[in-house]
Amino acid sequence: MDIHALQQIVHKTRDARRKQTIQKFSSADRDQLIHKYHPDFRASAYRPIRFGPNEGDRTVVELATLLEGDSPIQNHADLTPHYTTDVLVIGGGGAGCAAALHAHGAGAKTILATKLRLGDSNSVMAQGGMQISVAPEDSPVTHFIDTLKGGHMENDHDLLKVMVEEGPSIAKWLIELGVLFDRQADGNLHVKKGGGSSKPRLLTCSDYTGLEIMRVLKDEVINQKIHLLEFAAAIELLSDEHGACTGAIFRDLDNQRHIVVAAKSVILATGGIGRLHIQGFPTSNHYGATGDGLCLSYRMGSNLAHIDTFQYHPSGAVYPEQLIGALVTEGIRSEGGHLVNAKGERFVNELDTRDVVSSSIIRECEEGRGIRTMSGRVGVWLDTPLLDAEHGPGTVEKHFPAMMMQFERFGIDISKDPVLIYPTLHYQNGGVKIDTNAETNVKNLFVAGEASGGLHGRNRLMGNSLLDLMVFGKRSGLTAAGRVGTMNQGKLTLKHLDRFRADAKKHGNASGVISPMILPAYTRKVG
Ligand code: FUM
Repeated sequence: MDIHALQQIVHKTRDARRKQTIQKFSSADRDQLIHKYHPDFRASAYRPIRFGPNEGDRTVVELATLLEGDSPIQNHADLTPHYTTDVLVIGGGGAGCAAALHAHGAGAKTILATKLRLGDSNSVMAQGGMQISVAPEDSPVTHFIDTLKGGHMENDHDLLKVMVEEGPSIAKWLIELGVLFDRQADGNLHVKKGGGSSKPRLLTCSDYTGLEIMRVLKDEVINQKIHLLEFAAAIELLSDEHGACTGAIFRDLDNQRHIVVAAKSVILATGGIGRLHIQGFPTSNHYGATGDGLCLSYRMGSNLAHIDTFQYHPSGAVYPEQLIGALVTEGIRSEGGHLVNAKGERFVNELDTRDVVSSSIIRECEEGRGIRTMSGRVGVWLDTPLLDAEHGPGTVEKHFPAMMMQFERFGIDISKDPVLIYPTLHYQNGGVKIDTNAETNVKNLFVAGEASGGLHGRNRLMGNSLLDLMVFGKRSGLTAAGRVGTMNQGKLTLKHLDRFRADAKKHGNASGVISPMILPAYTRKVG
């Protein structure tokens, strides 16, 4: 049957479904559902890491292999620096830009290096919004509690407290820089409710919030004349004789030469791991999301937290084929969009937490209530036309212009036809363990944004990532800059690699691959 014929059940059942209320699951039912269907609980996808700071901890095979991978740099490499700086920021997304702007603003000589172009990142692709408690009926305490519940109570309390408390000042900073958040008719900021949140708290710029924030941050990095190294992929860190971080080695992707940067502090803001396609999942992530920062910091001796848990966003596109895995924002469910199975039934409260919603979708599909496309993919419907039926004609077009455009390119009008979706690999819940200034257990090595771990527990809430980037980007930049006057540039050595390689040898040279990956295997080959 073609897709239009299959869609008819959604149109036919819409009026009946509008009268229905779907209760959230009890906590026992949620746990049972997640354990049975969530990909984090597929034991065969996991294995213990053989050596290093997290020896014995389980993570997915794809990540364990990279963490145990060898460096492309040999011990005799020439470490004469091409550049010397106070603060070296690696990564050109939201966390990297925030870190560089704050370090530079505090007077530190700053270099921002990024493996693609400035801004090429998951941050620009963030659609749904940024959680900040700005509404009168909301508070940082409520934001804290919602996030903790969403994270299965495993969030690092200190990191979380800092994030929710600093949210309002971040909103003010971004507005002063020129970010145009959506506003109500009276001029106050408009806030929306996200899944797992008890209050409307999402600041939005239609459905291109990350793009708008990055428009402004990129402009500011350029206006401030921060030294940029583009198409520079970090391939190894440098350490002194005491194990502190002292710089990094890059591969210049334009001509394959190496660039050595000496720095008093290094801030890794390299983003997530979606392009590892864990367990064969498609991803909503940028091409550069290959977990480079995890590999680099692991070799230096940084501890990782919660690396056994990943976020599979409930609504990744399944049709058309060209959009497989692309994000269909949770904002649509926030505005009332129903999830509908092949029988025309709702099967989950659409605003439950993402792990619960994704598990429910996987259950529907595994138990034969999914919709199969002609190419053999399976998914459930997201009833997008319902938004126009509920809130008036033109709602989808007005509130989700980017999404409309994304599907229009393939002749699909999502205000008239529902969208077929299935969970897509979206986020790494864990990452490098940091303190409240975003510093790791390796001196002078900071990690900000998605590459860091602990803040979100075992399941991140919608919109908390954009805030995380800004808060810990800022804190890392300010802390690194604050040290500049009291420290000298450390020696540039590869002593950490000697230790790592000796450890690998004891374990039969572990995985035998070279890491970081830099770009996924199916993109242009990087020499
Ligand atoms: O659905 C979304 O718009 C995604 C937002 C997020 O991951 O924070």
